[in-house]
Amino acid sequence: MPKSRTAAIVLAAGKGTRMKSRKPKVMHEIANRPMIGHVMAALKPLHCDPVVLVVAPGMEAVAEAAVPAQIAVQREQLGTGHAVMAARTTLKSVSGDLLVLYGDTPFIATATLEAMLKRRRGADDPAVVVLGFRPDEPGGYGRLVLGASGGLDAIVEACDATPEQRAIGLCNSGVMALDAERILPLLKELRNDNAKSEYYLTDLVALARGRGWDCAVVEASVEELMGINSRADLAAAEQVYQQRARASAMEGGATLLEPASVYFSHDTQLGQDVVVGPHVYFGPGVTIESDVEIKGFCHIEGARIAAGARIGPFARLRPGAAIGPDVHIGNFVEIKNARLGPGAKANHLTYIGDAEIGGGTNIGAGTITVNYDGFSKSRTVIGPNVSIGSNSSLVAPVTIGAGAIVGAGSVITENVPADAMAIARGRQVNMTGRAQTFRAKRKKTTKAKPAKKAGARSGTKRKSGK
Ligand code: UD1
Ligand code: MG
Repeated sequence: MPKSRTAAIVLAAGKGTRMKSRKPKVMHEIANRPMIGHVMAALKPLHCDPVVLVVAPGMEAVAEAAVPAQIAVQREQLGTGHAVMAARTTLKSVSGDLLVLYGDTPFIATATLEAMLKRRRGADDPAVVVLGFRPDEPGGYGRLVLGASGGLDAIVEACDATPEQRAIGLCNSGVMALDAERILPLLKELRNDNAKSEYYLTDLVALARGRGWDCAVVEASVEELMGINSRADLAAAEQVYQQRARASAMEGGATLLEPASVYFSHDTQLGQDVVVGPHVYFGPGVTIESDVEIKGFCHIEGARIAAGARIGPFARLRPGAAIGPDVHIGNFVEIKNARLGPGAKANHLTYIGDAEIGGGTNIGAGTITVNYDGFSKSRTVIGPNVSIGSNSSLVAPVTIGAGAIVGAGSVITENVPADAMAIARGRQVNMTGRAQTFRAKRKKTTKAKPAKKAGARSGTKRKSGK
C-alpha cells in the first residue's frame, strides 16, 4: 500500500443518455451494488484522501452510495479535463499523487491502481501514468501514441486522429495517475479547439511532454476496463461479475450444482462445503456458514444461516432471518425478521415473521405467525422443544412456553404456558347417517327440476351452485 499521500477523482458527470434512465448512470447496480460502490470498493484499500466524485447538477443523490467521497458538481459537461477542473476547489492543495477514475468503469481492480501508483513513483518519475488496454475494436477510444523509447508521447482522441494513429491498438482506458504538483497547474492550459469542442484531460500528456517530463503506460485487461454505456453493457457486466462470483465461491470450497443459475450479490459469504442447488438467488447481506445445504429455487436476502442448516427447495428468507445451526427450512416457507434456534424445523408452507423460535421446536405445515394487524407488527415468541400443529395461526403478540404443544388448526390468541397443550378450534360434531339422508334429499330435488338443455333460450336466469 502506498505510503505517501494520494488523492482520487472519480468522474461521473456524463449524461449517460444511452441508459435511458431517470437515475444517474453510476447508480445502476451490478450484483446489487451501485456501479459507483464498486469503484469506491476498489479505491478503499488505497486510503486516498480526499476522494472527490464529480457529478452533474441534480445527481447529488449519489453521495450516499459513494461514501466517503466528497461531491463536486460540474455545472456544464465540457469534457473530462473540465470535470477535473470542477473538482479542484474540493481537492484544495494536493501535493502527492492523484488518481483519476471513471464512475462507469466498475471493475477496475485495486491491484491495477497500485501498479499505476508504483509506476508513477518509479525512478524515471513520470508525470502522468495512463492505464492502457487493447480492445478488439478500438473504435472511439483515445489512442496511446508511444515514443521511440517506449514512453507515452500523446493521447489522441479517435475523432481527432490521423488514419495512422487510428490504426494503433493500444487505447486509453481513461484511468490515470498524475503527479499533482506538476500536472494540476497545466489544467488551465487545456484548450477546446478539437473535434468535440471539449476540454480533454488526455491533452495533459502532450503538455507534460512539452515540458520534457516523461509519461508512461501501464496495461490492464479489456474485461477489467469494460465501461457501461447502455442497459446491454450493464447486463454484460452483470454476467462478467456473476461468472467471477461463481468461480470464487467454488474456489472457496462451495459446491454449486448448476453454477450458471446461481445469482450472487457483491457481499454474499459462503462457508466451506456449502452446497447450492440450481436457481438460487442471493440478495444483499447473506452470510452462510459451513456445511449448509441450499436446495434449488430459494430466494435469500439479508439472512444469516448457521452451520449444518438445510434450506429449501423453494424457501424464501427475507431480511433479519437468523437461521440457527442444523435448522431445517422446507418448501414454501417464508421467514422474515425471525430467529430460529438450533435444530428447529419448519418444513412446509409456513410464514414466520417477527418471531423467536426456540431450539428443537417443530413448526407444522401451514403455520402462520399473524404479525400484522393492518397498523403495526407484533412478535411471536416460541420456546424450545415446542410442537406447533399444522395449520395453526399464532396471533401476535403471543408467547408459547417451552415444551408446549399446540393442536393442529388452532387459532392461538393467548399465551400458552410451558408444557401446556393448547387447542383452539371448533369442536367436531359427528352426525350419524346424516350424509346419507343429505344425498337422498339432494337427488330428489334434482329430479324434480331437470336442467335445461344447453343453448336453449330462456328469459329467466339460470340458478348457479349446482
Ligand atoms: C474518454 C477519453 C478517451 C478514452 C475513453 C475511455 C477524453 C477526452 N477521452 O473518452 O481517450 O479512450 O474515455 O472510455 O478524456 N465526464 C464528466 N464530465 C464531462 C465529460 C465526461 O464527468 O464533462 C465523465 C463521464 O461521466 C465518464 C468519463 O468522464 O465517467 C468519460 O467521459 P466520456 O464522455 O465517456 O469520454 P469518452 O468520449 O468516452
Ligand atoms: Mg465513454
